[in-house]
Formats: sequence, structure tokens, C-alpha cells
Amino acid sequence: MISTLKLDRIRKELKNGSPVFFSEKYGEYYKSTTGAEEEAIKKFVEPAMVAEKAKSGKISILDVCFGLGHNSAAAIDVAFNSNPNCEITIFGLEYDLGILSEIQEISLNFKSYGLIKELINRKDLQITKKYGQGLVDMKILVGDAMDTIRAVKLKFDVIFLDPFSPKKCPELWTEEFFNDIKALAKPGAILTTYSCARSVRDNLKKAGFEVKDGPCVSRRGPSTVAILTK
Ligand SMILES: C[S@@+](CC[C@H](N)C(=O)[O-])C[C@H]1O[C@@H](n2cnc3c(N)ncnc32)[C@H](O)[C@@H]1O
Repeated sequence: MISTLKLDRIRKELKNGSPVFFSEKYGEYYKSTTGAEEEAIKKFVEPAMVAEKAKSGKISILDVCFGLGHNSAAAIDVAFNSNPNCEITIFGLEYDLGILSEIQEISLNFKSYGLIKELINRKDLQITKKYGQGLVDMKILVGDAMDTIRAVKLKFDVIFLDPFSPKKCPELWTEEFFNDIKALAKPGAILTTYSCARSVRDNLKKAGFEVKDGPCVSRRGPSTVAILTK
């Protein structure tokens, strides 16, 4: 691995050339080092049933902790593969402009990553654009997700929850934060996250989600899928 130090992030290259970032502040990687793209698809996008939901023609996604945008890019690819005419709305929550700026420096294996780069180039971090025969509407709210989530007025079909771990970033895994997410979730909405921690699942249940195992990808434990049934 080759490393480049930038503020509190270290950029590394995996053997296959994919970039990964390590946060010195949290002592954790931003995404799985065994395959960030695979993690986005298998742990976030597929169990959230993005392909199935896109078939209805419209899908809205809240991407909590947008980072380098793996989960959103994977969702756009999967949604348009499933329905080239779909309209997709994505709100990303992210407080670090530094990690957003890294998006210009890297390439990921997602067809839609060029669109994510265009979004980051816009001063207002907002883009509405025809995409194939469909439409993509994306916006990033910069600030602490615990505050910015309260400024969002839309309701979502899908929520990606991708903070650093519950141990290192406990504030984004609380019942209170999950209640704020629930307030923005449509009935039948699906939240996906990589963590299967008992405390996380208990807090999701207390906030009113039904919780089940997601897939196991590159580790023993499953991820978590939480559904808002009412
Ligand atoms: C595990 S990484 C997520 C990786 C990301 N989904 C991706 O595709 O690269 C966690 C992200 O959450 C952001 N973050 C951490 N605490 C936050 C907070 N309170 N509000 C908003 N963003 C936060 C970090 O800056 C980082 O980009």
C-alpha cells in the first residue's frame, strides 16, 4: 500500500488500485479495505431493495455520512440498471468538506461516479440532471448530521446509515438520532447499515423499526436491515 497524508486522513491504495482512506481522528477506515464498492452494493444497496423500489419510477434516498459517495453512486447504478426511466432523489449528510474534496482526486468503479464529481464541483452542492432516460436530483447538506437532519423536509424510501463505528462515533447510533431518521422515513422505508451491534439494533427497535440480519460480506457478522413497517 502507498500512503499519502492529508490533514487527519491517510490515503492508501489497495493492490487492485482502489483508494481507501483512514481517519486518524477515529482510528478507522472510511470503507471496508476488502472492497469498498462491494460493501456499498452488498451491505447497503441490495438489502435496501433499491432495484425493486426503482421499478416504481421514483426513489428517494437519505445517505447519512456521505463521505466519498460510494453508497449513493452504487444506488444510482443499481436503480438505473433496474429502471432506466427512474427519477432518483438523494440527500447526503456530511460534515467534512475535506473528504468531499477527495472525490475529485479518485476514481471508483461506478458508472455514475462522474455525476458525483459534478455534484461536488457545484458551489451549492446540488445538482438536478437528466440521466439516461431518467433524472437524478442530488444535494449534500454540510454540517453535523444531528443538526442537518432536522432541516430536511422530504420523506425517504431508503436510508443508508454509514457513520464510523458505534464505539468511536456513538452519537450517530442513538435512539434519539434514529427517531429523527424515522421522522423522515416513508412507511415501508428500509434502512441499511454495516453494524450488527446489539445496542444499535436495540435503539433501532426503540425508535420503531423492525430489525433483521443483512448479508455477511467479508466478515463473520451480518449487517443490519431495519424496516419501518407502519
Ligand atoms: C465511515 S465514513 C462513511 C463513508 C462513506 N459512506 C463513503 O462512501 O465513503 C463516515 C463519514 O461520516 C462523516 N461524519 C462523521 N461524523 C459526522 C457527523 N456528526 N455529521 C456528519 N458527518 C459525519 C465522516 O466525515 C465520514 O465521511
